[in-house]
Amino acid sequence: LILKIPFSTKISNFAASKSKNRMLQYLEQEVLNYSEAHSSPEMTVLQQISRETYAKILLPQMLSGHLQGNILSTFSRMIQAKRMLEIGTFTAYSAICLAQGLAEGGELHTIESNEELEVYIRKHIKAADLEGVIRLHIGPAAQIIPTLDMVFDLVFIDADKLNYLLYYELVLPKVRKGGFIIADNVLWSGKVLTDAKDKDTMALKRFNQYVRADERVFNTLFPLRDGLMVIQKL
Ligand SMILES: C[S@@+](CC[C@H](N)C(=O)[O-])C[C@H]1O[C@@H](n2cnc3c(N)ncnc32)[C@H](O)[C@@H]1O
Repeated sequence: LILKIPFSTKISNFAASKSKNRMLQYLEQEVLNYSEAHSSPEMTVLQQISRETYAKILLPQMLSGHLQGNILSTFSRMIQAKRMLEIGTFTAYSAICLAQGLAEGGELHTIESNEELEVYIRKHIKAADLEGVIRLHIGPAAQIIPTLDMVFDLVFIDADKLNYLLYYELVLPKVRKGGFIIADNVLWSGKVLTDAKDKDTMALKRFNQYVRADERVFNTLFPLRDGLMVIQKL
């Protein structure tokens, strides 16, 4: 059948699918812009953190950004968390968003392995006036999590993808019944839908399958931005 399709038709199909992709990308960006314009505005301090991160830090696109930041704030506001844990602080953008929903007297622990980021993280936490609320731990998450002898209402996993499953198993016993784990980037730019065999994609596929089959939790994969897996401990 393919051989019977004239070459010119194949080219025009190819061109049509490319222009369809461009149209979808355009629509996706327009929908994102519209959604941001109709969501509570990004706090001034978060705009400054975003600007500084893009100007001075490697891989600035790792920062959550306005819409995802608002989504994280919404989750923590919904449950009025008393204690939260974040794995992967980067420049503290998401930590500050999550902290917006903390109950009075609540605290957020956040773990970052890159010690070169510490000076930026502390500066940003101070700028947000959250020094007494956000507790920073510098070091590898797999070593720090077992030292945190406490119960969490919400854990946000946003560090090295290879260890998502390890972090999930380490934090699940520390999450209260009815509490949440949110894992970012679980769609990995759509690569989890492909046959890609790189380690990160394989690890995220394994993570998504494992969580889906885990009877200890109720989970939903939100196709937002790069994919947010929202998991409630039963
Ligand atoms: C995607 S960024 C986090 C972005 C941040 N949560 C935000 O939304 O603005 C991932 C961060 O995890 C950190 N990281 C990577 N491996 C880690 C590990 N083993 N333990 C702790 N942090 C780690 C990286 O240095 C990086 O800053």
